[in-house]
Amino acid sequence: MDTKIIQPQDIEVAVALIQAGELVAFPTETVYGLGADATNEAAVKKVYQAKGRPSDNPLIVHVAQLKTVFEYVDNFPENAQEIVRKFWPGPLTIILPVKKDRLSPFVTGGLSTAAFRMPNNEITLRFINKVGVPLVGPSANTSGRPSPTTAQHVFHDLKGKIAGIIDGGAAEVGIESTVLDFTEKTPIILRPGAITHAQIEAVIGKVQVDKHLVEASETPKAPGMKYKHYAPDVEVQMIDATKQNWQAAIEWAHGKKLAVGVLASKTIVTKYQSEVVAVYTLTEHNQIEEAMHTLFSGLRKLDEHQPALDILFVETFAEQGLAIAYMNRLKKAAGQKFFCAQ
Ligand code: TXA
Ligand code: MG
Repeated sequence: MDTKIIQPQDIEVAVALIQAGELVAFPTETVYGLGADATNEAAVKKVYQAKGRPSDNPLIVHVAQLKTVFEYVDNFPENAQEIVRKFWPGPLTIILPVKKDRLSPFVTGGLSTAAFRMPNNEITLRFINKVGVPLVGPSANTSGRPSPTTAQHVFHDLKGKIAGIIDGGAAEVGIESTVLDFTEKTPIILRPGAITHAQIEAVIGKVQVDKHLVEASETPKAPGMKYKHYAPDVEVQMIDATKQNWQAAIEWAHGKKLAVGVLASKTIVTKYQSEVVAVYTLTEHNQIEEAMHTLFSGLRKLDEHQPALDILFVETFAEQGLAIAYMNRLKKAAGQKFFCAQ
């Protein structure tokens, strides 16, 4: 199959493809999504095939209007309505109980609940409105790879497997939405993202954090959070900046004759670039927003050096506020491995 790169002004081409039951990737403010008509079961099945995604992992239903959510849900609690009025369109996904038999089990993973999100991207909102039905939209990467933040990343992973990609430029946020579950008495954050715990509590009061985000031994409630994720081919280790481990890590790797890559702030990159094989700047000015924006694209960029790299060292940030989401993704990419001085 020929994968078309579609410019925003040619959106009608993308609309026709979706209506014909094909897959089209679309830009959002978080990462690119792999779109299919959420009401067309055959189209939804193709999403799992194209991504190589386990079939028990449910999809997010992307809407352009709040009223669409009401068509599908059994109960839309007041606090859930309040939070979406505040943060939609935006990087927040909510989980609600759905009406029986309204959504294919391929959308919900066979659960009695579903995930909904209104992305903050003008092209994609127009796209969904023109298609006239909600779109499923998992991140448009091959399962297990870093999520795509540009149309080129999507093309790299899915060329020949999907009909088109709408090129909306680089995603601003860079990591996936916060997932907030409203199916229990107290809402629970299942996946951290750019809308933080504090921002949510400021609007609706107390919310919990899924136990697996606190203790690695617990099983996550969002099926997708249990899989290995976001990993490039090269081995990744995290460097705890507060322990001044950079020098020790690079010396250790050199002692073992390992070819090193570095994904870190400008100051670290400048200091070590002459001693390592490849570097990529995560943030110019030590800003977490910028590090979030660059994390997945940096992992992909450095992975292009394969097989020339043996190990990739990536900078950590203290786990608070936005950095909770950054560290959640980085820990998965690194298989939880921190460099530790021997
Ligand atoms: O920012 C995002 O959310 C992006 C963009 C494209 O919108 N989408 C995205 O989709 O990250 P995906 O499929 O890669 O991640 C969706 C997560 C998975 O961990 C999945 O298990 C969880 O949401 N999820 C979906 N439906 C659920 C449900 N009914 N109950 C619990 N978790 C659910
Ligand atoms: Mg994903």
